[in-house]
Amino acid sequence: MDRIRIHGQRRLAGEIPVSGAKNAALKLMAASLLTEEPLTLSNMPRLADVRAMGELLRSFGVGVTVSLGGGLGEGDQMRLAACNIQSAFASYDMVRKMRASFQVLAPLLARHGEAKVSLPGGCAIGARPVDLHLKALKALGAQVELADGYVLANAKGGLTGATIEFPFVSVGATETALMAATLAKGETVIENAAREPEIEDLARCLMAMGARIAGLGTSRLVVEGVKQLYGADYAVMHDRIEAGTYAIAAAIAGGEVELIGAKRQSNGALIDLLEKAGARVSDSNRGIAVHMNGARPRAVDCSTAPYPGFPTDLQAQFMALMCVADGSSVIKETIFENRFMHVPELARLGADIKVTGDVAVVRGVEKLRGAPVMATDLRASVSLVLAGLEAEGETIVNRVYHLDRGFDRLEQKLSQAGADIARIGE
Ligand code: UD1
Repeated sequence: MDRIRIHGQRRLAGEIPVSGAKNAALKLMAASLLTEEPLTLSNMPRLADVRAMGELLRSFGVGVTVSLGGGLGEGDQMRLAACNIQSAFASYDMVRKMRASFQVLAPLLARHGEAKVSLPGGCAIGARPVDLHLKALKALGAQVELADGYVLANAKGGLTGATIEFPFVSVGATETALMAATLAKGETVIENAAREPEIEDLARCLMAMGARIAGLGTSRLVVEGVKQLYGADYAVMHDRIEAGTYAIAAAIAGGEVELIGAKRQSNGALIDLLEKAGARVSDSNRGIAVHMNGARPRAVDCSTAPYPGFPTDLQAQFMALMCVADGSSVIKETIFENRFMHVPELARLGADIKVTGDVAVVRGVEKLRGAPVMATDLRASVSLVLAGLEAEGETIVNRVYHLDRGFDRLEQKLSQAGADIARIGE
């Protein structure tokens, strides 16, 4: 199994291209099931999760072809042709490994009339149930049964538009409702919809395929169902979590990095905190530039929240920065329970963190010290890489397959900006 070796204490300088967003790309791929015509996606990130979703779609009979882009800044192109759906079964093995696989349920049901998709089961970052997804599909008239760990959904007579009101914000359930509603009869209103930019990206792609959707970017989406959707060409939005991760890398290592393709607007909550911590963030004509003059960051409190709040997917990375801040900060995780698994690993590098329930109190230390650490989940693992960039000496991050799920050629991007980081075989 590959590992990542980092020698810390190098300033970063230069540019890092931001790839297409994983959390948008996976849903756009699932949306290809809604039409018999080909959907061609460009600016696709090169990730293990994208390959896994491609395999799942192939198992349904979807033709998947990929043309690789050139350099780090050029995304791949993927053509998805779901002419005939030959199977509508997603196994436990598949959905357990990647929760986003569950997002095939709604498009399979809407187009094919039935689907059998495994429940995701437990997950390293909390229980993560799918009750809201199922509630949305039932509201649209689907029959939904749970048996032997599987969801069996049926809508042979077609789905019918309805009002769906979510009791709290869920990204995945909003996407399920949106995809199902595109082919339902009549109007669907989704109240308390999540407003994450990836949902707007999905809505724009569906509209390019012929869907009628209003209220983009708001918490009330209105979908007028259509009889069928068509093929389209669509470019995946930039990955705001990847961009935010590299912005924090610049702040923790010091230096100046231009993030090509990043957008201030989609990372407003993070940029606000980075500026409070002492970084300078400016707009460049190709993205944003993050500058940290080498001084220690100031301690700033942070609480995760649905968009436009601070993203839970950047919590671990921001905590890494606060580990070396001047002062103490309070970090509160409100979206997922059990999303502090990076804490004991950061402690191995010398961090001083105390967790009580959903709150972590981080007392900044002057310097971290390199050590072997273990990646536990996708975002947690990249926080260890960031900490390693600051740490004195050598840090080895084990189990990097977590990183490969969500970060496109991370070590190449960071070394291009001056980090001493390399992938090493077992
Ligand atoms: C998506 C992102 C993930 C991100 C999260 C929150 C993808 C592939 N993943 O995950 O990276 O961290 O949004 O921004 O896009 N919940 C329920 N019932 C449900 C659905 C969710 O109780 O039916 C709960 C979850 O357990 C969690 C909260 O709602 O506590 C928010 O989860 P949700 O927004 O649905 O996250 P995902 O779509 O799974």
